[in-house]
Amino acid sequence: MNDVFELGFGETKAEIALDRLPVQGAIPPWVQGTLVRNGPGTFRVGEQQYRHWFDGLAMLHRFTVANGQVSYANKFLRCRAYDAARANGRITYSEFATDPCRSLFQRIQSVFAPQITDSAKVSIAKIAEHYLALAETPIQVEFDPETLEAVGVFQYEPKATGQMTTVHPQFDFDGDQVFNLVTRFHRVSHYRFYRLQGELRPALVASLPVSQPAYLHSFGMTRNYFILAEFPLVVNPLHLLLWLRPYIENFRWRPERGAPFWVINRHTGELVGRYEADPFFAFHHVNAFERGDELVVDIAAYPDAGIVQSYYLNRLRDPNLEVPFGNLRRYRLPLKGRRATYEVISDECMELPNFDYRRFNMQDGYRYVYAVSINKQQRKGFYNQLLKVDVETGAVQTWHRPNCYPGEPIFVGRPGRVAADDGVILSVVLDAARGTSFLLVLDAHSFEELARAEIPHPILFGYHGAYFEA
Ligand SMILES: [Fe+2]
Repeated sequence: MNDVFELGFGETKAEIALDRLPVQGAIPPWVQGTLVRNGPGTFRVGEQQYRHWFDGLAMLHRFTVANGQVSYANKFLRCRAYDAARANGRITYSEFATDPCRSLFQRIQSVFAPQITDSAKVSIAKIAEHYLALAETPIQVEFDPETLEAVGVFQYEPKATGQMTTVHPQFDFDGDQVFNLVTRFHRVSHYRFYRLQGELRPALVASLPVSQPAYLHSFGMTRNYFILAEFPLVVNPLHLLLWLRPYIENFRWRPERGAPFWVINRHTGELVGRYEADPFFAFHHVNAFERGDELVVDIAAYPDAGIVQSYYLNRLRDPNLEVPFGNLRRYRLPLKGRRATYEVISDECMELPNFDYRRFNMQDGYRYVYAVSINKQQRKGFYNQLLKVDVETGAVQTWHRPNCYPGEPIFVGRPGRVAADDGVILSVVLDAARGTSFLLVLDAHSFEELARAEIPHPILFGYHGAYFEA
């Protein structure tokens, strides 16, 4: 049995490109497209170790499925942080929870201008015709989806002003618009919602002043509204300006603030309301929609921000670690009311949630959420199963195999589908018994395995990917 920590949080030894992976089972012939996954390619530089799951140097993985066969390639995302790490043999740029070692003199020099990573490793999006690797800084690196070569840092003109952004832009396919939320840290900080259109010129839609901004990883959107759940993991912007500790360690948990929901009309930019809610934390909004005169917001929620702590590598190294469970909550915001309430749809552990976004984003009547999860009978260690939740009934299905650690499930719908779960789930799974990873193809309806394509090396635990139809 291999060391799961070393396989999932170590380093990738090789960049490879293979025309044909061995496939067991049969991939449905209608699956024709490319899955690009993003995440860390190494947690070590020279003798140095990054500190947190959200650190590391970005690596892209490509799986192209055609006629039942799968080709594969992986490549570090070439960027300044990568080049400097390779040239210097040490960590040179600041990450989520790791700062480079600096002398006192260098530290004083770097105050006000920390070298923040451009290693965009968190997610993937295709915006207009550009394939982008996204980071929580507004630095986005364009890449070639075939060769995985970086094209360069993609700049919007004019730039969307702010230092942090979500890596989960929201798409309104009908309006051919893309929206994102950027936080500008300043004496008076602002949450700023932007709209991208046409030649990717960002237009400011709304700007909300805030004295102590929250750590925000995603936001909700309906046909008419943005929904910002403001979790009480907040920062004094002065502390970021001084930058005396790594980025996330400047944030403090302040549960006395509650977790208000802000609702903004996304056509006019007007603030519609603020809804009180008890404190909670989340990385991921799942889906949101309008139903009568209320907003329904599904969120993969935690009682507090302890999940951020649990992702430090010195904790993940412990095979007895119990990662805090998130659960799927449905918040309801009455448009004429003042308070958000929620019910738990499922108390199964859930993270990296996904659904049939193309078909059901902002739609009442969406039915299924897919996520990584931890099996209640195998509670210790990292995410070890895939989960499917029926949001109407709360019924769950799981895919769990010994020594297997699946990554984010991505739903690929069958063309012309009618049933809500007519499609497949793609997930990169680390098989700790073999010491390698495979691309899993599950029937999204039955949650039974259809096929797997074996990769000759382990893939580190990553975050998000995206599938593009051929
Ligand atoms: Fe995310």
